[in-house]
Amino acid sequence: MVLQSLILCYLVLPISLSLAADYFNPNATGIKLQNGFERIHIQPFGNHGFRVRASLLRDPTGREPSALIDPPLEGPSSKGLEHSITIPFRGNATVRNGNLVVDVSFGVTSFSRVEPNGTLTLLTSEYADTKVLPARYYVQDIHGQSFQAQFGFSADPDEMFFGTGQHACCKDHTVNKKGQIVDLINYNSHVTLPIWMSNKGYLMFFNYPGQGRIEFDRLRTRFVADEATVVDYWITTAPPEDYDALQQQFTGVTGRQPTPPDFSLGFQQSKLRYYNQTQIIDLAQRFHDEQVPISLIVIDFFAWKFQGDWSLDVDVWPDPTAMAAEVKRLTGAELMVSLWPSVEDLSENYLTLQEEGLLAITRDGTGIQDSFEGVYTRLIDSTNPDAREFLWKRLNDSYFSKGIHNFWIDQADGGTLGEPFENNGQSISSIPYSRSFTQYFLGSQEGFGKMYPWLHQQAIQEGFQNLTGTDSSQESCEYMSLTRSTFIGGQRFCSYLWSGDTDSKFDVLLQQITAGVSVAASGISSWTLDIGGFAGLDIDTDEGKELFVRWFSMGVFLPYTRVHGTRSCNIPRTSTLPHANPCPNEPWSYGEDNFVILKKYIALRYQLIPYVKTLFQMLHTSGKVILRPLYFDFSKSDEFVRKGTKTNDPVVVHQFMFGPRLLVAPVGEFGVKTWDVYLPKLDTQTWKHWQVTTNQIPRWTDHDFGKGGMSITIDAPLDQIPVFYLGDKDDILNGNI
Ligand SMILES: *[C@@H]1O[C@H](CO)[C@@H](O)[C@H](O)[C@H]1NC(C)=O
Ligand SMILES: *[C@@H]1O[C@H](CO)[C@@H](O)[C@H](O)[C@H]1NC(C)=O
Ligand SMILES: *[C@@H]1O[C@H](CO)[C@@H](O)[C@H](O)[C@H]1NC(C)=O
Ligand SMILES: *[C@@H]1O[C@H](CO)[C@@H](O)[C@H](O)[C@H]1NC(C)=O
Ligand SMILES: *[C@@H]1O[C@H](CO)[C@@H](O)[C@H](O)[C@H]1NC(C)=O
Ligand SMILES: *[C@@H]1O[C@H](CO)[C@@H](O)[C@H](O)[C@H]1NC(C)=O
Repeated sequence: MVLQSLILCYLVLPISLSLAADYFNPNATGIKLQNGFERIHIQPFGNHGFRVRASLLRDPTGREPSALIDPPLEGPSSKGLEHSITIPFRGNATVRNGNLVVDVSFGVTSFSRVEPNGTLTLLTSEYADTKVLPARYYVQDIHGQSFQAQFGFSADPDEMFFGTGQHACCKDHTVNKKGQIVDLINYNSHVTLPIWMSNKGYLMFFNYPGQGRIEFDRLRTRFVADEATVVDYWITTAPPEDYDALQQQFTGVTGRQPTPPDFSLGFQQSKLRYYNQTQIIDLAQRFHDEQVPISLIVIDFFAWKFQGDWSLDVDVWPDPTAMAAEVKRLTGAELMVSLWPSVEDLSENYLTLQEEGLLAITRDGTGIQDSFEGVYTRLIDSTNPDAREFLWKRLNDSYFSKGIHNFWIDQADGGTLGEPFENNGQSISSIPYSRSFTQYFLGSQEGFGKMYPWLHQQAIQEGFQNLTGTDSSQESCEYMSLTRSTFIGGQRFCSYLWSGDTDSKFDVLLQQITAGVSVAASGISSWTLDIGGFAGLDIDTDEGKELFVRWFSMGVFLPYTRVHGTRSCNIPRTSTLPHANPCPNEPWSYGEDNFVILKKYIALRYQLIPYVKTLFQMLHTSGKVILRPLYFDFSKSDEFVRKGTKTNDPVVVHQFMFGPRLLVAPVGEFGVKTWDVYLPKLDTQTWKHWQVTTNQIPRWTDHDFGKGGMSITIDAPLDQIPVFYLGDKDDILNGNI
């Protein structure tokens, strides 16, 4: 009891600490807190940051899977477990790195920011109270050296938390996650990431690739790791609401996005599915004849004979080399193919993979992770470097060496095929297990599952690098992979994430905005979605057509413009190939009038490429987020934005900035002709309306709405997505920003 109340008293102390130079141990390389069975290492890491590692009975090995780059791109590195200060449990120590001060006293760690006037502001501290679990709480009921850990930190009732990855489902229309529980488990559309930014001016990242959860409670934020051998977290600070600085520092320790190739910034055509070579050639011919520019054509799943072949079925794809060359000749477009991680018994690769131990296994011994399309499947174990090499060899032989250079990493969310509620088409949602007990080379699904999609991405990345001779710190990409899942630091890869299988509904269109800006606030700006939504769009209905056009107009203002989905229509199926859906999904498939509009939006996208390239350059140099929630740029100047962000007011969270110059307010309702837009308050600049007319190439009307701070109702016919710009339009079109 005595100890507990001492801790309580101490919590208020850091605010009144003076800045006497000796107090801060300016040359300290780190602190080691030795507390019986528990050890805590605290080290300056990155700019204005500290890395904290807690372990039981033994020091961390330093070889634990990690998304941190050590040494980081910017700021101090950890130099192993180096530390110049060792303190016992009741000892104290204070160390400063840049503007962040860590203070340990009586076993409690707190973090404060040094303000320009020299005072300290407490950001967060380990959460202590007289009748709660200890701030650092461990349960050791797992075989081996792993344990469950729960780490609690103080939070203010009115604090806001942003980030935590992509929640592109579950009716989640939020950017402020305060009050939520975030489950750290991947599945289709759900890529939760253990990173959050506070409006008080700090960012926390738990360098833990396993399952668990984050609880954003009123007074306490708690991080739960289901199976850890070390609890490893990183914290950094910046002035309140300087989110660009937090992102710069965060990507300084987790990596920066290499710039994508130009072609990937153009129009990308995909559907479920083009199922033979003739269709792809015919498609390219049609784009050529219609004079519609196209940059990428995608071949979806089941173009293989058996799952795990990682090659095209020769019966219907007789000559991939000729196909790729012909597509290039007709349109200049690149090709992309889908690959799944599943392997079935009949695959030509099955026996080799099985014999060499390159398939993930299960704790129940069957080795089967899932079933799909009538067969049981296993996962290639991409956490094993030998498996990555095997996979890449197949991809090179079947595709890359034949001119198909880009890969779509589908269904590799980890554990299973990422669809926990389906088994051979039968719903098994009544069985309360969302995952088989998958074991990888790296460890268990519980402890390392979030590393699976990341290492699967890495297989393609290493393959690209090995072929082109580029190293891992590459500046730009020649080719890209598209992925349904990732982990922290996924921005290092020549890869982009898309939001998975979404429903074709207007409210889901709007929901994509909060999903996109939240994953961007988690370090992943290389992002897109299925224009039109993945499932549920009937192209013969007025609503379906309108949804597609509205969604397309939003897609023009995303990092990548990509059409995809399974469509329904009145064309009967003739092919007996699996998933041979004949319904079209091309710009001309949605009616003559809409084709005119869609062509104009495609032209607009190509006009914007110089601007988009500049956005990617800024992302590469400083981690500057591309898809920007309004709170990034306006919460300091505009009280309405700040309050609306806090309550997740749809007026505020259903708009975004595409780079620093364009405000986009997608129309998310059927049958409307006008749209309400909130123009955030500006200090000096003014908002100008960017109107796009149907007949010609995009034209600007430049109507000036002044300095904002008001709602307006704007005409929004189908061919006009509400967009407002800042500054000079020629600068935007030239990428001169
Ligand atoms: C920190 O290191 C510098 C350079 O070695 C030295 O001059 C200085 O006295 C040290 N400061 C303290 C407080 O030990
Ligand atoms: C920290 O410990 C030192 C020496 O044990 C002591 O002089 C100092 O007052 C302590 N500081 C705080 C803030 O408890
Ligand atoms: C110092 O700066 C902080 C943050 O701007 C402010 O809250 C505080 O009132 C200032 N204190 C003094 C003594 O000026
Ligand atoms: C490709 O599919 C189309 C549409 O079903 C069909 O008409 C054509 O015969 C197929 N071609 C080949 C080579 O299988
Ligand atoms: C890339 O090359 C390195 C060095 O030869 C090799 O270890 C690695 O397995 C290769 N990666 C792939 C995916 O082929
Ligand atoms: C990729 O394919 C090319 C062409 O067949 C071959 O020369 C090269 O060795 C292959 N590389 C790998 C890593 O398989």
